[in-house]
Amino acid sequence: MSVLFQKLLHTGKVNSFRKFLYPSLSHCKCLSERKFSDSHNKFVSFDEVAAQRRDEARRSLVIQVNSESSFNELYGYCSKYASINGIHHYKNSGGEHFMLVEFSTEQSMKDVLRNCSAHQKEHDVMALKSPFLWFRANSGKKAKLTIPTDVSLVIKDGNAITDEEKLNAELQACSNISDQMQLLYDRTTLNDIGVRLRYMVARQLEVVFESLYTNIEVRPFGSSVNGFGRMGCDLDLVLTNELTHQLSDPKKRLVYQEKKCSSGVRPWQRHLELVAELLELRVAGVSRVTRILHARVPIVKYAHELAGLDCDLCYGNLSGVYMSELLWALGTLDARARPLTQCVRRWAAAHALTSAHAGRWVTNFPLTLMVLFFLQQRGVLPSVKNLINRAGKEDIRIAEENVNCTFLRDMNKLPTECYGQNEANLETLLLQFFEFYSQFDFSEKAISVIEGKAIRKPNSQPLYIVNPLENMLNVSRNVSYEECERLKAEIRNAAWQLEAGSDDKKSDDWGLLSLIEKKSSRGLKRLLRVGNSHRLVAVKDLFNEDDDSDKEEGFRSKLERLTQKSDKVEESVKEMKEDLEKNSKEKKDKKINFKNSQVASEVFRIRRDKMV
Ligand code: GTP
Ligand code: MG
Repeated sequence: MSVLFQKLLHTGKVNSFRKFLYPSLSHCKCLSERKFSDSHNKFVSFDEVAAQRRDEARRSLVIQVNSESSFNELYGYCSKYASINGIHHYKNSGGEHFMLVEFSTEQSMKDVLRNCSAHQKEHDVMALKSPFLWFRANSGKKAKLTIPTDVSLVIKDGNAITDEEKLNAELQACSNISDQMQLLYDRTTLNDIGVRLRYMVARQLEVVFESLYTNIEVRPFGSSVNGFGRMGCDLDLVLTNELTHQLSDPKKRLVYQEKKCSSGVRPWQRHLELVAELLELRVAGVSRVTRILHARVPIVKYAHELAGLDCDLCYGNLSGVYMSELLWALGTLDARARPLTQCVRRWAAAHALTSAHAGRWVTNFPLTLMVLFFLQQRGVLPSVKNLINRAGKEDIRIAEENVNCTFLRDMNKLPTECYGQNEANLETLLLQFFEFYSQFDFSEKAISVIEGKAIRKPNSQPLYIVNPLENMLNVSRNVSYEECERLKAEIRNAAWQLEAGSDDKKSDDWGLLSLIEKKSSRGLKRLLRVGNSHRLVAVKDLFNEDDDSDKEEGFRSKLERLTQKSDKVEESVKEMKEDLEKNSKEKKDKKINFKNSQVASEVFRIRRDKMV
């Protein structure tokens, strides 16, 4: 049993620990009944979670409403047909309101669907079945609603991304870097409604494709489900049509007539073309469909406006799902893995090491592997080889192209001495992460989470991170020499910043803030922070519709107000310059004690190079 878990058992904090490990599962009924004091049931497997989420999605509908106050009316209306488990409210990026309604059974949900109507005023709109609906205003006399007093929204505005300024203020108020890291994780990790919505979008596609393909499944993978997702992350989906045991039963004598696709080597490329057409024509909420069909893994990209998500749909890529399973398993083994990874991902984004677009730079997935590899070095996590060696028959999984994805799934079977052998806090681990990679020999060594140790690089690709499921592949083969150098330099800078970090917890970039706040936005933020107002020029100052009594006078006084503000800006810029000068003088004067002298000399070299 992990040291942390043992401690929690003693202190009776098992439930909060469980909530921390599986924040998105706090509403999963079947999982909340598990006894976590029973060490055999300590970990929930990826398959259990996925099955629970898929079941939830089958019993749920997403209904567009006028506002969150439509709750009573919607509850009253739907409960006439079926019993409701809970209603979750969210807004999409266009500010439109939606309620995700979870019914108690799939049959209940179907009863509601049977009572839906279509909106066919225009002839070019064709009715379609989907779990995405809207709630029409009541045209007749309003019936009196009797809503139980204890019923309310499970969550209001559940999809909102934490406001950066508010988050920074909260981070500034923390008392140490570990607390900052935990807070950042708690505020930004993908929440329950975020996961539910992602499964709803997958379910919507299954509903559309079910009539075309017998055994179709659409499964989310990647950060939406592997436990490392943040609010607003993209949704990776895979469409599969595996032959189930039932469908391939040779005893069944009646067999479907089938249609062979005559399209040479990659028939699914043509099917994906059809899928893209269907997405454009028949799937509510879908827009901006882009076909990338000639890539190694063909995908269709699209935006889902009702759910406010960017989606990537591919076919048959089961190794992506198994990879998510592996990351999920490693993430659940130690409560520090996910907050640490989230901080590193955030740091990389702030320094433009990662980007929303694919290119010659590192992405979140290899960065996550770097963190897991580091945690293996500290005895916090086991090697993947260890999980492979302990796999049983029930763990055998073979993905496309015969890739063997077999490894131990049930972490309850893993001896406790294989993980959690280090009690360092998050702050220490973060510093050690940067120190570790400051000294890592990227030119000769490859990072292998399979072995749990560095191995010799088989080729000269600048950054080599072994694919955990296919040991002959490098997941960072796209990274250019320049980008790898930039990554190394920023790692050394981060180590330096943390080591030399100011103790002044009043400064607005102490601790984690200096690592995760974009430098450009920090300067701009100061510029915008004038006097008591937080905006340089409020838009409403320019377009105040109420103020039309004396327009000329109004404009003159606004102009004066703006001029005063611009004077304040000048003052603020002057203040900033003075601050900068003072800061650089202080830094020159300050004697920095590095715990690690090699890091120190490297950092000074980089800083000098930058100056030139
Ligand atoms: P974000 O979307 O950035 O939040 O992270 P992500 O983990 O979802 O990464 P991404 O969307 O780029 O990839 C989705 C999933 O595909 C990853 O989680 C991996 O499971 C898998 N994946 C990504 N890159 C590779 C790769 O190079 N090789 C293999 N085999 N799988 C990959
Ligand atoms: Mg992703």
